[in-house]
Amino acid sequence: SSSSKVVLLPGDGIGPEIVAQAARILALFPHISTTTHLVGGAAIDATGSPFPDTTRDAVSSADAILLGAVGGPKWEAQAVRPEQGLLAMRKHLDLFANIRPVFFPAEKCRALSPLKPETLAGFDKSIVVRELVSGIYFGARTEANYSVSEVEAHDQMTYKQSEIARITHLAAHLALASSPPEPVTLVDKANVLATSRLWRKTVTDIMAQSYPQIPFSTCLVDAAAMHMIKDPKKLNGIVLTENLFGDILSDEASVIPGSLGLMPSASLAGLEKGKPGLYEPIHGSAPDIAGQGKANPIGTILSVAMMFRYSLNMPWEAELIEEAVRAAIDAGTVTADLGGSATTAAVGDLIVTLVEAALKTRRRPMT
Ligand code: NAD
Ligand code: IPM
Ligand code: MN
Repeated sequence: SSSSKVVLLPGDGIGPEIVAQAARILALFPHISTTTHLVGGAAIDATGSPFPDTTRDAVSSADAILLGAVGGPKWEAQAVRPEQGLLAMRKHLDLFANIRPVFFPAEKCRALSPLKPETLAGFDKSIVVRELVSGIYFGARTEANYSVSEVEAHDQMTYKQSEIARITHLAAHLALASSPPEPVTLVDKANVLATSRLWRKTVTDIMAQSYPQIPFSTCLVDAAAMHMIKDPKKLNGIVLTENLFGDILSDEASVIPGSLGLMPSASLAGLEKGKPGLYEPIHGSAPDIAGQGKANPIGTILSVAMMFRYSLNMPWEAELIEEAVRAAIDAGTVTADLGGSATTAAVGDLIVTLVEAALKTRRRPMT
C-alpha cells in the first residue's frame, strides 16, 4: 500500500510516555512514516505558542495525527495556555466530530470496573459522538485577567443549525454501520438552554426525515449522567451531544470499563477519508503520575487502532491491535490504575510483541 504520514504530538505530562509506546506499534509498519512536533506547554516553552506554525503546517499535510495530552500546573497561571493549542488545532482542521467509544477492551474489564456486575449486565457499547469545534468552548468570552478587581466573567454558548446537522448525519452513519442500526440518543438540556432546543429540533427533524429506520430518543444531560453509571445499558448505541456535555460524559463513562487510561478517541472532519484525523486518548496529562512509568498506554494504543480504521484504511491491522490489548489485559499485564503493577513500558512491550507476532503469522485478508 502507499505510504502514510503520521504526525506525533507527545505534548505534556504523561503525553511523551504514552505516545512513545504507541509509536512502537506504528514503527511495525514500514509504509507509515512519522515526524514529531511540539504542541501545548512543551511548545509554549520552546516557541511561546501552544500551536506553532511549524506544527500547524505539519498537521495540515498529514494523513493522521496522534496526540498524547497537553497542560499541567506549570502553565496554569499564565495567559497563554497549553489547552488553547489543542483547541486551535481542532478548529484549524475542522475536526467537528469527536468519536469516543465506551466498551470493554477485554472481558476482564467487567471485573476491573468499580460498577457491580448486575449494573454492567446488558451494557455492550456506547459511542459518544461529541461536537468538537463549537459551543461554549469557542464562544465569545471575557478575557478575564484574574486581577483582584475581576468580579464577573462570561462564556457564550452558540450553535448554528448547520453545525448540528452535520454531526447528526455523521452519528446516523455510524449507527447505520451496524445491522440492525444502533439506537441514537440525543443528550441535551432542552428544558433550559436555547442551544439545546435548537439541537432537539434539528436532530429530531433529521432523524425522522432521513433516518426513520434508526431508533431515536432524547435524554436530558443530568439524567443521562445518572443512567451512565446506574444503568449504562440505557445508553447502548450512539450518544450524540454537544461539546461540553460530551467532554464531561465521556470521562464519566470511563468508570464503566474501569479506567480513564483505557479510553481512545478519534476527531474527524467527516467520515470520508482524505482529511487528516486526530487521534488521542480522552484523558489529560496526568501531572500526578507523570515521569513515573505509571501511565496506562492503552487509551493511546487503542487510538492508533481507531486511526488505522478511520484514516489509514487498515481495519485488519486495527483488529490485531485490539486483540493484543485484550490479551495483555487478560494476562494481567496492566498498570496501577487497573490494579496492576506493570509499568507503561512493560504494557507496551507485551502489546508490541503480540502485534508483531500476529503480523508474522497471520495472513492479511484480501479486500
Ligand atoms: P487527567 O485526565 O490528566 O487525570 C485525571 C486522573 O486520571 C488523574 O488521577 C490521573 O493520574 C488519571 N489518569 C489519566 N490518564 C491516565 C492514564 N493514562 N493512566 C493512568 N492514570 C491516568 O485530568 P486532570 O488531572 O484534570 O488534568 C490534567 C491536565 O490535563 C490539565 O492541564 C488539563 O487541561 C489537561 N487535559 C488535557 C487533555 C488533552 O490533552 N486532550 C484532556 C484532559 C485534560
Ligand atoms: C479533552 C480535554 C480538552 C477538552 C481540554 C484539554 C481542552 O479535556 O480532550 O477531553 O475539554 O476538550
Ligand atoms: Mn476532557
